[in-house]
Amino acid sequence: MSDNLTLPTQQGSTDTPSAETLLQVEGLTKHFPIYGGFPIKRKVGAVQAVDGVDLTVGVGESVGLVGESGCGKSTTGRLITRLLEPTGGKITYAGQDITHASRRQIAPVRSEIQMIFQDPYSSLNPRQTVGTIIKSPMEVNGIDPPGGREKKVRELLELVGLNPEHYNRFPHEFSGGQRQRIGVARALSLNPKLIVADEPVSALDVSIQAQVVNLLQKVQEEMGIAFLFIAHDLAVVRHFSQRLAVMYLGKIVEVGDRDSLYNRPRHPYTHALLSAVPEVEIEGEGPARERIRLSGDVPSPIHPPSGCRFRTRCWKAQDKCATEEPPLVQLSGNRAGHLTACHFPEDPTTEARDEDVILDPALKALENDAEGGPVDKK
Ligand SMILES: Nc1ncnc2c1ncn2[C@@H]1O[C@H](COP(=O)(O)OP(=O)(O)OP(=O)(O)O)[C@@H](O)[C@H]1O
Ligand code: SF4
Ligand SMILES: [Mg+2]
Repeated sequence: MSDNLTLPTQQGSTDTPSAETLLQVEGLTKHFPIYGGFPIKRKVGAVQAVDGVDLTVGVGESVGLVGESGCGKSTTGRLITRLLEPTGGKITYAGQDITHASRRQIAPVRSEIQMIFQDPYSSLNPRQTVGTIIKSPMEVNGIDPPGGREKKVRELLELVGLNPEHYNRFPHEFSGGQRQRIGVARALSLNPKLIVADEPVSALDVSIQAQVVNLLQKVQEEMGIAFLFIAHDLAVVRHFSQRLAVMYLGKIVEVGDRDSLYNRPRHPYTHALLSAVPEVEIEGEGPARERIRLSGDVPSPIHPPSGCRFRTRCWKAQDKCATEEPPLVQLSGNRAGHLTACHFPEDPTTEARDEDVILDPALKALENDAEGGPVDKK
């Protein structure tokens, strides 16, 4: 990796949300309308993909956004990068309200917010050379770096661990991991201050996931670039993100600094997510976590449950959970900035609970087949 590329370095990384705020999201909402009826189509409902999300990302900070498939992570990322128009809420970037900014209004900050996509196969144009792919954001934004665009592209290729001589090659000549490095180089070409990385390693072999995460971590730390790192489990973000937000069915259910969330999770869903990460064992934390698996399907975001959206899968649900939506608040005893949305939170511990909660019936059936018997607590 090149060390000779000079890019602005900021010392903004912090463990707390009190750092200088780069991005602030308040009550962010995206409802996709559903149309039906014949012969005249009209709106018959809405997919409540994102429903009142509050989130901040500090300058140079890395925040992880975690949750199961379909909970609204990508939609949140696309709203923040303004690839989608929000239904409601507010997005403030560097003190500027960009919620509904037009293309022209947003142009000055648009280059500062970049996105890295999940699929390195479909996100690169197969007919363009790597040089053209990485260069095009500079062309679109009329940016002429010192020494020219080609020089900058070669520097970026070196920076992400690729051979600068491969400037004229096409995406199909690269492996998945290398393609994702090309995506990283493209995102870096405009010296961004915020990168939304949407499951950037999920499509890669496990063996190369760590390499790409390490590259992103180097980028984040050395260049002071803030990250919103989207992942569906906590394993990937646990080394990368200083703060974590857990999302369920369009809402943030728990947010806090990494240590507080890992060592003192309060929301039952966070407990379940943590227990689904077999290798999560924090040094000096005693025995391995019990495994909890969420039973039942994620409810439809078209008709989310009343009150707490997690209640249909929660082992602690009571009547109140169906009638009152739990606010996202700091529970007593929790560190500043550690917020939880639950009426009956778990104890702030990672110790095993008595009962075993099976969260995935399909997985249970598979394990039963494999083991020839019921699933035991690990
Ligand atoms: N353009 C769209 N029109 C209608 N519904 C949509 C659209 N995009 C997403 N959705 C729905 O919004 C919900 C959230 O989708 P989203 O892609 O944000 O989830 P995700 O958390 O990124 O999931 P995954 O982990 O599978 O990527 C899903 O129910 C999805 O079907
Ligand atoms: S509010 Fe109720 S249903 Fe929701 S997570 Fe807490 S205990 Fe479970
Ligand atoms: Mg997604």
